[in-house]
Amino acid sequence: MPDRVNRRWLVAKRLDGELGDANFRWEESEVPEPGEGQILVRNLWLSFDPTQIFLIGRPAEGEPDDGRIPLGSVMRTIAVSEVVSSRHPGFAPGDIVHGHAGWEDYTVTDGQGFTPTYRVPDGVPPNWAAGALGLTGLVAYFGVKEVARPKPGETFVISGAAGGVGSIASQLAKFEGLWVIGIAGSAAKCDWLLRGARIDAAINYHTEDLGTRLSELCPEGIDIYFDNSGGSTLDLAVGRLRSGGRVVLCGVTSLYRADPPPPGLTNYANLIMVNGRMQGLLGRDYLDRRTEAFDAMLPMLRSGRLRPREDVLEGLREAPKGLARLFSGDNLGKQLLRMDAPASER
Ligand SMILES: NC(=O)c1ccc[n+]([C@@H]2O[C@H](COP(=O)([O-])OP(=O)(O)OC[C@H]3O[C@@H](n4cnc5c(N)ncnc54)[C@H](OP(=O)(O)O)[C@@H]3O)[C@@H](O)[C@H]2O)c1
Repeated sequence: MPDRVNRRWLVAKRLDGELGDANFRWEESEVPEPGEGQILVRNLWLSFDPTQIFLIGRPAEGEPDDGRIPLGSVMRTIAVSEVVSSRHPGFAPGDIVHGHAGWEDYTVTDGQGFTPTYRVPDGVPPNWAAGALGLTGLVAYFGVKEVARPKPGETFVISGAAGGVGSIASQLAKFEGLWVIGIAGSAAKCDWLLRGARIDAAINYHTEDLGTRLSELCPEGIDIYFDNSGGSTLDLAVGRLRSGGRVVLCGVTSLYRADPPPPGLTNYANLIMVNGRMQGLLGRDYLDRRTEAFDAMLPMLRSGRLRPREDVLEGLREAPKGLARLFSGDNLGKQLLRMDAPASER
C-alpha cells in the first residue's frame, strides 16, 4: 500500500435512467505527482452543479462522445482545494484555490480548462468560495445586476429559487428594491424563501397551479424572469412578461434529463408584443470580473445581510448523493460536500 492514498470515485456506468451510486466505482490509488506546469491540490470542498450529469451521459446514436468522462476515469467537478506542491509559477503550497478537481482526495491540474484555477482571497471561508462566491454566486450576481438590469419596484420572478444560484439571486434581487417571487419544489423551500431569504412570495410548483399563481401575484405582468428551470416554467413566465420585460437564461434543469426534450416555447410571440429581451448568462465569462462580485458580496455575507444557504454532505463517500440530490430536488441551497481527512492523515 502506498504512503499516501488517493480515494476517488470513477465513472463506472453511463447515465441510463437511474442516477446514483451505481454510476460510480470507489477506488484507492497512489497520490499523483505534479508534472512541469502543474500543481497537486488536496480537495477541501466539492461543488455540485446539475450540468455535471452531462459528464456521465450517454451520447445519442451517431453522436461523438466529446466532453464526457471516459468510463474508468475520475468524476470531475469544481472544488476549493489547498495546494500541496507546485511546479506552476502562479501557485505555491498552502494557497487555497478554486478550480477543476475530481471526486477524490488529491488532484493534479495545470489550472486550465472551462473554469481556470484562481487563488481564493485570504480570509474567505472555503465553503463561501465554493458556493456564494464561486461560480454559483457569480451567475447570481451578474445575472441580477447586469443581465436583468433591474429598476426598483419592478416584479422579479425566479425559478429554482431555493437552490444554489436561486438562493443568492433572489436575495440580491430583493436588495435591488424589486418585488421578488420565488418558485420552488417543496413547502420547506418556500418557507425558507419567505423567512430565510426574506423575499415577498413563494410558489410551490408541485402543489400549486403555477400559471394561476403567477397571474395572481403579478397582475401587471413580470418585469424580470430569472430562469433556472426552462421548459414549461419558462413558457409560463414569457407569456406573462410585461412591456420591456427581460428573461435571464441561467439554466434549464427541467430539461437536462428530459428524453426526448419537450417541444419548445409556445408563448415566445409575446416577446414581440412586449418588446422583450431574453439573454443567456454564462458564469465563466465573468470570472475575470470576480473581484467586483467578491467586493460587493463579501461584506454582505460578513454582516449577515446576505444569507448563504448551504446543503452540506460530509465525506467523499457521499459524493454520488450530491449529484443525485440536485435532481430529486432534495437540496435546499447550494449543494456542497466537505471532504473528510485523507486516509494518510487519520
Ligand atoms: N449559466 C451558468 O454559467 C450557470 C452556472 C451555474 C449554474 N447554472 C445553472 O443554474 C441552475 C441552478 O443551478 P444550481 O447549481 O443552483 O442547482 P440547484 O438549483 O441548487 O439544484 C437543482 C434544483 O433544480 C430543481 N429541479 C430538479 N429537477 C427538476 C426538474 N425536473 N424540473 C424542474 N426543476 C428541477 C430542484 O429544485 P426544486 O425542488 O425547487 O424544483 C433542485 O433542487 C441549473 O440549471 C444550472 O445548470 C448555470
